[in-house]
Amino acid sequence: MDKKATLTLHDGKKIEFPVLSGSIGPDVVDIRTLYGKTGVFTYDPGFLSTASCNSTITYIDGDAGILLYRGYPIEQLAKHCDFLEVCYLLLNGELPSAKQKGEFDDMVTRHTMVHDQLNRFFTGFRRDAHPMAVMVGVVGALSAFYHDSLDIDDPEHRKISAFRLIAKLPTITAMGYKYTTGQPFMYPKNDLSYTANFLRMMFGTPCEEFKPNEVLVRALDRIFILHADHEQNASTSTVRLAGSSGANPFACIAAGIACLWGPAHGGANEACLQMLEEIGDASKIGEFISKVKDKNSGVRLMGFGHRVYKNHDPRAKLMRETCHEVLNELGLHNDRLFKLALALEKIAIEDQYFVERKLYPNVDFYSGIVQRALGIPVSMFTCVFALARTVGWIAQWQEMIADPEYKIGRPRQLYKGAPRREVVPLAGR
Ligand code: CMC
Repeated sequence: MDKKATLTLHDGKKIEFPVLSGSIGPDVVDIRTLYGKTGVFTYDPGFLSTASCNSTITYIDGDAGILLYRGYPIEQLAKHCDFLEVCYLLLNGELPSAKQKGEFDDMVTRHTMVHDQLNRFFTGFRRDAHPMAVMVGVVGALSAFYHDSLDIDDPEHRKISAFRLIAKLPTITAMGYKYTTGQPFMYPKNDLSYTANFLRMMFGTPCEEFKPNEVLVRALDRIFILHADHEQNASTSTVRLAGSSGANPFACIAAGIACLWGPAHGGANEACLQMLEEIGDASKIGEFISKVKDKNSGVRLMGFGHRVYKNHDPRAKLMRETCHEVLNELGLHNDRLFKLALALEKIAIEDQYFVERKLYPNVDFYSGIVQRALGIPVSMFTCVFALARTVGWIAQWQEMIADPEYKIGRPRQLYKGAPRREVVPLAGR
């Protein structure tokens, strides 16, 4: 039976709208004809009740704390797959066979080098620039280097752009880091895995052989998997909105990176670590929590809360495990900030303020501690998030372009400004 929703307007007029069902998750009321039929818009700042598209990529049940990529639980993907398998899954809808994985890995590996001219692009930036500022600029600039894959109506171009972005982001991220340290850029090395290669480009030098530590490689790979996609979040919606005008994929991903930078989104891992440093000691947690509860202080507990998860963020649990593994491997199990984070988490999840508002640790609460232990500087944390999220952005962008229902995104507004008035010439004002 077709489901319908009825809207009763102020004049008593009743209008029916179709209700659409997904494979799982809440139904949606299809209000696309609302304005045409009634002359009114819906009002939903922050998209609290709005499904902006249909998608087959990622599913989140925020009340149950469930995250699925193409139907597979994140816990199983984190355990059984590597990041490139997850990339294949997000892009193609199915996990690869061994042969498909081999071909996919090979294709990514062979696109990791960047145009040599791009090296000079970096030197235009100050060495003390925030690495996210550099990343937004350099990724946006890729559209000036790869003219041969910019036709968004050509599926082959879209595919090559996707490979280029996934393959070159680690190289660009590492170049950003090397530039700030003054060390030479490291070229990618094709016999290493995606993640080991990234670590080598970050921490290796031409002077000596870099030997990747497999426990650390696996931990970083897991960070990549956990950040690979997350449904229609702010940066993904930004990528879709930018792409809806027909903009090229490099420009769209640069827009996504810009959005990710904010502390309410991807910038939270950096902000979380800064917060832990500021608290400094477990004895100061009480004082800090009081500040968080005081609405006038403007202080939030970073790494806590989520628009969708009103239960444990499943990624946070996996990240906490990874944190233990990495700190044990490095002999840092007594790490000051990790102990502080554990104490803070314990106090916060038992506190009425957080319980009532269903605020739990999110993925960023522990990812900063893992990254710091890996030697990644705090200012680079959000770049690592962007590197990992690029596959999600590009999968969502491709899905949108191939969707026959796709239209340029154009929200409307509730106008509250001055009604029409006449301009008085300067002499008369
Ligand atoms: N610390 C203290 N209070 C909070 C927090 C927090 N981290 N998060 C939400 N609240 C309170 C908020 O003050 C409000 O209280 P009240 O109802 O009394 O006014 C209530 O909880 C609901 O908050 P909201 O701002 O309406 O919730 P939202 O869905 O708009 O915001 C959020 C979600 C993630 C922006 C927010 O929880 C936040 O700012 N968290 C800290 C930043 C953070 O960790 N972000 C990373 C998100 S996960 C990674 C990613 O997706 O990028």
